[in-house]
Amino acid sequence: MDTTALPDAVRRVLPLLTSAPPDAPLRDGYLDLLGSGEPQPSGPVQSLWESRAGTAVYEPAQAFARKVVARLRPPAERLLLPGGGTALDVGCGPGTVTAELGRDVGRAGLAIGVDVSRSMLRRAAGAHARPNVGFLRADVTELPFGDATVDAVTCLMVLQLVHDQEAALAECARVVAPGGRIAVLQPGYAGPGAGVVAAAAGLAGLRMPGHEAIAATLRAHGMSVVEAGTTAPVAQVLAEKPVVGRG
Ligand SMILES: C[S@@+](CC[C@H](N)C(=O)[O-])C[C@H]1O[C@@H](n2cnc3c(N)ncnc32)[C@H](O)[C@@H]1O
Repeated sequence: MDTTALPDAVRRVLPLLTSAPPDAPLRDGYLDLLGSGEPQPSGPVQSLWESRAGTAVYEPAQAFARKVVARLRPPAERLLLPGGGTALDVGCGPGTVTAELGRDVGRAGLAIGVDVSRSMLRRAAGAHARPNVGFLRADVTELPFGDATVDAVTCLMVLQLVHDQEAALAECARVVAPGGRIAVLQPGYAGPGAGVVAAAAGLAGLRMPGHEAIAATLRAHGMSVVEAGTTAPVAQVLAEKPVVGRG
C-alpha cells in the first residue's frame, strides 16, 4: 500500500492494525476498511445515521444536548488518558468527541474515530481530521486493531444500535491496554415503566441493555468495573483493564 497519500493520523494508525490493508480506499479523508461490504443497518435509527439528512441533524442535536445535559459529555478526566496516549472512539458519529480526545492526548498522541456510517465519517473527517485525529470505517464488533493497542476506548450512544452487543464490548476489552479504561454511555431509563420504554425502543430497532448487563459483559471479558449506574436519560459504565501482577 502506498501510504504517502494518506493523512498523517491515518498513517499513524496503520501499525496498530492486525493486518495491513493493501487495497483499503481512502474516501473523503477516512480509510474504508469495510470497502464495499455493507453491514445491514440494525434498524430504522441506524438507517437514519447512515443518511446525509440524519447526519446533518444529529451533529447540532448532540452538541446542544451535551451543553444542556452534562452527563452526556464523555468522562474525559475519568478515562485516565495519558498525554501522548492513544484513544479510540467507537461509533464516533460526526467526530466531535474524537476531536476532544485528540485535544486530550495532544500532538504526540492519537485519537481514532471508527464508525460504519460513510455519511458520519465524511462529516467527521471533513471537520475534525488533524495530524493526531484520524478516522476509519470499521465495525465495532470486529475491530481491526491488535490486542492491547489503545489506552482508552469511548463507546458513546452506540451500543443500542449494535446487533451483537457482547461482541462489541468484547472487542473494546480486547484492544484496550492493561491499565486502560473503557467508557460506555447509553440511552438509559431504570424508573417505573422501564419495560414499556424498552419495548417501545425495541420497535425502533434500539436494544437498550441496562448498566448491570453492560458491566457484567465487560467483567466477563476481563475488565474491572469502576462505576456503573443509570440516571435518565443515560446509563453509564466505566471499566478498567487490570494490570496483571499488580495489587
Ligand atoms: C447516536 S450516534 C453516536 C455518535 C457519537 N458517539 C456521539 O456520542 O455523539 C451512533 C453512531 O454509532 C454508529 N454505529 C452503529 N453501529 C455501529 C457498528 N456496528 N460499528 C461502528 N459504529 C456503529 C452509527 O453509525 C452512529 O454514527
